[in-house]
Amino acid sequence: MTDKNKHLLRLADWSEERILDTVEIAIRLKKEVHNGQFSDRFHGQNIGMFFEKPSLRTITTFQVGIHQLGGSAVLLAPDSIGLGKRESIHDVATCLSRWVNALVVRCFKQELVEKLAEYGSIPIINALTDDSHPCQAFAFAQTIREQLGDFSGKTVAFIGDGNNVANSFLVLCAKLGMNFTLACPQGYEQPEAVIREMEPLLKKRGRQYRVFHDPKEAVKDADILYSDVWVSMGQEGEKAAKQSHFLPFQINDELLRFAPSHCKVSHCLPAHRGEEITDSVMDNPKINMAFEEAENRLHAHKAVLWQLMTPTADLGKV
Ligand code: CP
Ligand code: NVA
Repeated sequence: MTDKNKHLLRLADWSEERILDTVEIAIRLKKEVHNGQFSDRFHGQNIGMFFEKPSLRTITTFQVGIHQLGGSAVLLAPDSIGLGKRESIHDVATCLSRWVNALVVRCFKQELVEKLAEYGSIPIINALTDDSHPCQAFAFAQTIREQLGDFSGKTVAFIGDGNNVANSFLVLCAKLGMNFTLACPQGYEQPEAVIREMEPLLKKRGRQYRVFHDPKEAVKDADILYSDVWVSMGQEGEKAAKQSHFLPFQINDELLRFAPSHCKVSHCLPAHRGEEITDSVMDNPKINMAFEEAENRLHAHKAVLWQLMTPTADLGKV
């Protein structure tokens, strides 16, 4: 049985307390870097980076963050490794566990991160799968904390596809006492299982989960609008169909007129300007938090590693 606390496989595995603690660590680490202070908590440790899908932010911020904490990032080559083809997942996980102190994984199937965690003995960090993106949720939470102060009772309206990013954000909202609204075309709602798992928690906290097929309805009481690409990595074959379905689900100045005046906007990036979000919103620093959130990926990832990895000074202690 995998001890889910040893890893970041899904945000749903982490308690509210641990999520909040991680956000506070990230805020502290950000302040330290801005003051020119760098911890050497992971001096001499190596962290593997296995990315089956493209990345700018995640791959860069993990590497920079690991170096800032005194460790080394080891970029692995998925094509050369041939996970499950050239060699079994079990044997790859077992070997990597003898060489590196943790493994950051971006892949298609959620099942792969779960298996690596099951077979290996090192922390596995989910850096995006088709089902979830918990690292993005941490950076988003940090940005809310810094810019809006408090989580409780806030409403996040996610305008877009009910897949990986939306799934982790629904979990984040449920865990931290926020309302979650999804605005999407018919047929692009979130998987029932994700909703069912979070419903009791939302109910217990008196928070709402709502789905709208009219984005104007969805933004009415939102504190933050969130956007993601219409066509996720690996779905390129669905591009034409998705683009026509999602056309009314663009965050633009017109849609913002239906949202409260204090409402902010963010995006996980990369943004496809002119599709899910316009230049006018992206380039409005008064409302757009996406670039701050992108910076926070750096600090949030360090905070996740801080929680999961054994500090160098404690390695080998019984
Ligand atoms: N938001 C995000 O995960 O960005 P990358 O795909 O560039 O890593
Ligand atoms: N939903 C997007 C997120 C990119 C960070 C994708 O999976 O491509």
